[in-house]
Amino acid sequence: MEKNTRLTFIEGERIELLPINPENVKVHARWVNDPKARLYTRNVFPVSPEDLKKRLEQTQEPPKRDIFFEIYHKELDKIVGFVEFHYINYINHAADLGVLIGEKELWGNNLGTDAAKLMMKYGFEELNLVKITAIALRPNKGACRMIEKIRMKLELVMKNQAYFDGEYVDELKFCIFREEWEKTNK
Ligand SMILES: CC(C)(COP(=O)(O)OP(=O)(O)OC[C@H]1O[C@@H](n2cnc3c(N)ncnc32)[C@H](O)[C@@H]1OP(=O)(O)O)[C@@H](O)C(=O)NCCC(=O)NCCS
Repeated sequence: MEKNTRLTFIEGERIELLPINPENVKVHARWVNDPKARLYTRNVFPVSPEDLKKRLEQTQEPPKRDIFFEIYHKELDKIVGFVEFHYINYINHAADLGVLIGEKELWGNNLGTDAAKLMMKYGFEELNLVKITAIALRPNKGACRMIEKIRMKLELVMKNQAYFDGEYVDELKFCIFREEWEKTNK
């Protein structure tokens, strides 16, 4: 992907965050339908590229309650996942963070952490958020560890909230406030 044609919105060291390219919806559909990834994201219904296109069009309507980015890996020269804020609340200045590294062979390489860190900076410094939350199922060890690495703190345990892989499991809600984030990022 040529540097001068790539729509870089946020630049990190190894990755860049790009606006969603509707031409990539087939790749996105592969990620969200993936049997392992969708187990953790609780995607229990099949999602077609057309469904994703519709969803994307809806999120373009103001006020923007959801903001999505593709995660572009500079060295690999391809998109590897996406990251999003959903339920952005402009009165409470809060939003929920979600990350999906669609190319599973890349899990455990700090890419999720890098993407989440860029989103926190964007959220606090540009969107004027004061609180960012993230939700993970207790068995989702990779997500829980990633959330720990970005210094979010456990805020709430929703007991047996989710039916996951044949059993009820806890849903964990984590959060970080801008004040805390600034202590290590300013
Ligand atoms: C969650 C997810 C985004 C993490 O992305 P990632 O690039 O693998 O994340 P990172 O490498 O930055 O961090 C993951 C950490 O979890 C650890 N980890 C992964 N699987 C683990 C397991 N089964 N048990 C314990 N730790 C595990 C990794 O080793 C790494 O920690 P480390 O750097 O201390 O070694 C990715 O696994 C994913 O897309 N999962 C499906 C979607 C999802 O669950 N999203 C979460 C919603 S917020």
